[in-house]
Formats: sequence, structure tokens, C-alpha cells
Amino acid sequence: MRAGLAQHPAALDTRPLGATFGAELHDFPIAGDLPEATVDAFRAALHRHGVLLLRDVPNDPAALVGFSRRLGTLEMHSASAHTHPDHPEIFCVGNYADDRMRANFATGVEQWHADSSFRDTPSACSLFYGAICPPEGGETWLLDAVTAYAELPPALRARIAWLNAVHDLNTLSEWNRRHTPGKPPLSEEARRRFPPVTQPLVRRHPATGRPSLFICPAVISHVEGLPPAAGHALIAEVMAHATADRYVYRHQWRAGDLVVWDNLSTLHTATLFDHERHQRLMFRTTVAG
Ligand SMILES: [Fe+2]
Repeated sequence: MRAGLAQHPAALDTRPLGATFGAELHDFPIAGDLPEATVDAFRAALHRHGVLLLRDVPNDPAALVGFSRRLGTLEMHSASAHTHPDHPEIFCVGNYADDRMRANFATGVEQWHADSSFRDTPSACSLFYGAICPPEGGETWLLDAVTAYAELPPALRARIAWLNAVHDLNTLSEWNRRHTPGKPPLSEEARRRFPPVTQPLVRRHPATGRPSLFICPAVISHVEGLPPAAGHALIAEVMAHATADRYVYRHQWRAGDLVVWDNLSTLHTATLFDHERHQRLMFRTTVAG
């Protein structure tokens, strides 16, 4: 468990998930009118652990949106074609489709990232709910970007300490197009809404003050001040360290799981699944930073 944070007074029932971070949270119903102190305790636990897993959460999109809103203002996703028909705050992921909903489906292996890094103000946290989960594959892997940073070789830590990178939704879109044939290019409208933004490679968490790696290889067009190839090589070197098993928690989904991650201290990625044989439908809400 990450050290250095005081236990919140309203103790929640948590058990560790990964070697260095993450916790399963027991007996925490998200529906209904939760007292502010309970929401505060949840937020403190999220900052402390980086990732919280809740099991057997009923499939109730309205409750998911309601609880997400208690954590902050919700982002509206850049790909509005794949939002929930009754709850535009919910981005639907997977191969599920019916006449009202078409989840966002990609066949490329996703890269490590924090959600919305291409926004001026990146997302604070995301809530990801498994409505229909394949029996295998379709995993979510999460990475402890705080401990991975703290345990970087000192010389490498010094090299990245003051560098900035340019995060660009169009870079991500082109990456996706290379891996998912037939995907259309990013619209002009989206390019205007999300121009490239500069982000530090190492950032400090606004609530905890802890530094962490903020590196999203498929979203970064280049590292400022370095030739493109040198920038990408530096990113690859850091990520080779950061993706060691010790810093990664691999979540195998069960329908009814809700995984909440702190986008300001973790990175995540997905694994493929057999989309010819299995269905998958996930609901994501994203809390603005
Ligand atoms: Fe994501």
C-alpha cells in the first residue's frame, strides 16, 4: 500500500488489490442519497489507493450517473455517437449494439493512458462499470504511476523531471485508425474543440501532493525540446520501467463490477477479447479535473 497519507476518519472497509496500490471496497452502495461525509471518505480512499473496486453493483445507469456527479462535474465524451441513449454522461464501450445504443468498439490493443489527457484540464477520475462482460479477455490493467515514478532510477527521474509533452486527440485518433481499419478520421469539429495541449511528464496530485508519471504514449505527439525520435525513445524507456508487474493490477471483469480510478495518479489500458464469440458492454462516466 502507498505510504504517507492519513487514514480518513470515516473508515471504509477496504482490502488491497495490487502489490503497491488499489483496494476492493466492501459494503458501499452507490445508489441513494449518500451523506457528504461518506462521499468525502470515498474520495479520500480513492486518492489513497488510486483504484477502488466495488463488486455486485446493480446495473442502474441513473444511479451510476448520480454517484459520479457527487464526485464532481462530469465530462461529456468527445465521441457522442457512443453515449447512452438516456444518459449522455455515460460513454458506452464494447461491441454491444441495439437500435438505441452502439458501444464504441476498437480492435487495436489500447495503450497506457490517463483519460482525457488531451484536454486542457485532464480528468480527475473515471468510473467504469461492467454491464455485460466476456468470460475471458476484455481486461482493464491499471498502473501505479506514483510508485513507478518514485522507484525510477534517479538518473532517469532527473531526465524527465522538467520536461513537457504535447498531448493531441488527433495523434490518438490516427493511432486508433492504424489499429482499427475503417475507423474514420477525427472530425474537424473535434479537432477544433480539442487542440493539442502541453502537459508535464511528471505531475503533482492536487489533493495528495504526490508526483506521478503522466505519460500516454499513443496520445503524445512529441516531447517538447527533444527531436521526435529521442522523445519517443525516452518515453519508451520510462514505460519499460513503469509497466513492470509490480506496478500493475490486472482486473478480470465480472458483470456488476465497478472500478473507479484516479486519473491523476494511475494509468490504464485494456486487453482484447473474442468479439466474434462474446458480447461486452461497459459504462464509463468521467469526472472533470
Ligand atoms: Fe481510458
